[in-house]
Amino acid sequence: TPLLSTHHVGQAIHFHPSLPSTNEAAFRLAADGAEHGEVVITEQQTAGKGRRGRTWVSPTGLNLYFSVILRPELPPQRAPELTLVAAVALAEALRETDADARIKWPNDVQLGGRKVAGILTELSAEPERVHFVVLGIGVNLNAGPEDFPPEVAATATSLSQVLGRRVNRALFTATLWGRLEEWLDLHHEVGFDPVRQRWKELSSTLGQEVLVRTDRSELRGVAEDIDGSGALLVRTAEGSLERVLAGDVEQLRP
Ligand code: BTN
Repeated sequence: TPLLSTHHVGQAIHFHPSLPSTNEAAFRLAADGAEHGEVVITEQQTAGKGRRGRTWVSPTGLNLYFSVILRPELPPQRAPELTLVAAVALAEALRETDADARIKWPNDVQLGGRKVAGILTELSAEPERVHFVVLGIGVNLNAGPEDFPPEVAATATSLSQVLGRRVNRALFTATLWGRLEEWLDLHHEVGFDPVRQRWKELSSTLGQEVLVRTDRSELRGVAEDIDGSGALLVRTAEGSLERVLAGDVEQLRP
């Protein structure tokens, strides 16, 4: 039987030995008309992009770096839901290898409290219509601590470090693309609710005391829930419920 059982995700693959960023390459392909599910994948990135202007350290040959082009039938305001769809798919694919993957809001996938994967969603849209979405995913599969600069190694890990064995990249990739397509299809057919339920089960953030840093301010409280658009609901010491759409969460241990 073939490794890959999807209908769309990864059925067309654009492979490059090296790229600045798969998100940038996929964005150009999509602007030129590439179809839903087409993937750009590489062995290394020289300018891998992370969230909030950060870089994604992308050493050669060890990890997984790809971007999927999506053409969802969604209004632009709902596009952020796709990032949570991807987080759920990632956590499930990692759990299939026996690792205890958890999601830290909004979409950091962690093993033992350390980051193992990241998602960067980029959008081309008009006010009323999404042209396309580029869903970029990086997974640390076989990198060791020595493959990252010390400041990254301090908070990151890889699947192989946690499992204590090398991980087969092709197998993991096929599993992940399968999960991704399943959750994308469910999201398309049923909506955000089942995604939100699964996200909550897989989350390490809910119920925790957190410090949230947004572009403008800091907020401290207990992470209670995510709402129907994926925003984090934080109960402050004063008792008010604050809604956070974008930011960084630090989970405080009492
Ligand atoms: C994050 O900051 O957590 C998001 C990291 C996303 C990294 C992936 S690697 C493949 C794709 N191409 C990029 O330049 N970034 C994403």
